[in-house]
Amino acid sequence: MTQRNSAQHSNRRRQLAEIRQSLGQNSLVLIGLMGAGKSAVGRRLAASLDLPFTDADSEIEAAAGQSIGEIFAEYGEAYFRTGERKVIARLLENGPQVLATGGGAFMDPETRDAIKTHGTSIWLKANLRVLMKRVGRRDNRPLLQVDNPEAVMKKLMAERHPIYADADITIETREAPHEVMVGNIVDALASRLAQETPRATDDRIERQRETD
Ligand code: S3P
Repeated sequence: MTQRNSAQHSNRRRQLAEIRQSLGQNSLVLIGLMGAGKSAVGRRLAASLDLPFTDADSEIEAAAGQSIGEIFAEYGEAYFRTGERKVIARLLENGPQVLATGGGAFMDPETRDAIKTHGTSIWLKANLRVLMKRVGRRDNRPLLQVDNPEAVMKKLMAERHPIYADADITIETREAPHEVMVGNIVDALASRLAQETPRATDDRIERQRETD
């Protein structure tokens, strides 16, 4: 390894450690549409930060003892959404972790509030072509089991993007490999931290002055 590479590596390691430390008990919460790569990117992000990874959809399935397709078919979407809200509220108590949520989760005001309280939200934003390419690989998404899944996706983009835009961090996914996405997320978290740190330090000095 060249000297420059080794300096970059140790800088990255320091950044990762600082991000992990800054979380305390909070979670990094991935949001975005079906096919955005929340689970795949989330798993790699968790590994880089040496944090546990949790997939909300898998936890909902485990709690129900049924697949998401079965829950939708047997009880309907409203029932699924109630379960989703409860499961995510419970999972958010278990930070620090990287938590990937299903595409509809952040649309729920209670869940959005819980995420704001217990975590940093990261929107993986992808265009229609990328999303359709990715969701086309699997048939496990009840909302897309229709004649024209692309029309549904377009509608969801129109409805959800303005709400997703409320996330703390937005990462444009394009067709970049997952590792590149992870790098972009780490960069965004590090620069957020760099902006916050002077303020946190000022607050500490202020508090110290008050107690002196
Ligand atoms: C949904 C997204 C799915 C899953 C459910 C509903 C949505 O998760 O929660 O099928 O409303 O967008 P993914 O975003 O992980 O595919």
